Amino acid sequence: MDLNLNGKRALVCGSTQGMGLAIARELANQGARVTLFARNENALKEVVTTLPGEGHDYLVADFDNLEGVRKKALTGIGGGDYQILVNNTGGPAPGKIYEAEISEFEVAIKRHLYVSQTLLQLLLPGMKAANYGRIVNIISTSVKIPIPGLGVSNTVRGAMASWAKTMANELGQFGITVNNILPGFINTGRITSLISNRSKAQGRTEEEIKAEMVSSIPAGRFGESEEIADCATFLCSPSGAYINGTSLRVDGGRTGSI
Ligand SMILES: NC(=O)c1ccc[n+]([C@@H]2O[C@H](COP(=O)([O-])OP(=O)(O)OC[C@H]3O[C@@H](n4cnc5c(N)ncnc54)[C@H](OP(=O)(O)O)[C@@H]3O)[C@@H](O)[C@H]2O)c1
Repeated sequence: MDLNLNGKRALVCGSTQGMGLAIARELANQGARVTLFARNENALKEVVTTLPGEGHDYLVADFDNLEGVRKKALTGIGGGDYQILVNNTGGPAPGKIYEAEISEFEVAIKRHLYVSQTLLQLLLPGMKAANYGRIVNIISTSVKIPIPGLGVSNTVRGAMASWAKTMANELGQFGITVNNILPGFINTGRITSLISNRSKAQGRTEEEIKAEMVSSIPAGRFGESEEIADCATFLCSPSGAYINGTSLRVDGGRTGSI
């Protein structure tokens, strides 16, 4: 198996904490030079010094400001020689879909789809020139079965999955793969805040909510960010070359569809 990413450059979005950070770290472990991309400059400064290897850097922008992302990315990586793009950012706010405002859809679609499209277009020439590209999108198992209480998120994840599949069809001929990782319940800040929201909405303790969630997972536990990172790194590696256009669940078996 060839996981060697020496000589490869990776742009990893949403990489100050959680799954994005774990992915950045594992890509660097395998030899890639990583550019981190998120909002919190202090966190980025600190994280970049902890990555193994050399030549890592970071970009700062809020993905809710598309023009800001475009400008930062143009100056920071425009024309740059990147072979790996990991699309990842904060999840949309929870809530029932029939109560969602149009503005909530607009924010979510920009933060996820429009930013991913913008970054893809910047990095694509370099990937084509290298005849090597790996695009990995961190989305959600809601692509398979919508998750109650995450109406806007379910909708936008579906759009991301269709975007990715369409692109996989178009870009396979250039040695570029496009895949989605669908994380189950993973121990990060996002899951802690979802548990807290459900606890308040349902008037039950956080322990009860968490126990109920764990009971729905055949593996009997939440996953760890590193388990997502291992999967992402494999997809980005030379050994992942023939996996294209897929949505891979990393959920301990939780999603109840084939
Ligand atoms: N954890 C789970 O169980 C789970 C399950 C399924 C899907 N997901 C989805 O997977 C993705 C990652 O989840 P996670 O649990 O790793 O999340 P997390 O721990 O909350 O980390 C989110 C990352 O995205 C960055 N970010 C958030 N909002 C941003 C914005 N507006 N612009 C730029 N960067 C932004 C954050 O950095 P800054 O704050 O520095 O910007 C952070 O590095 C999310 O979309 C989440 O909804 C999570």
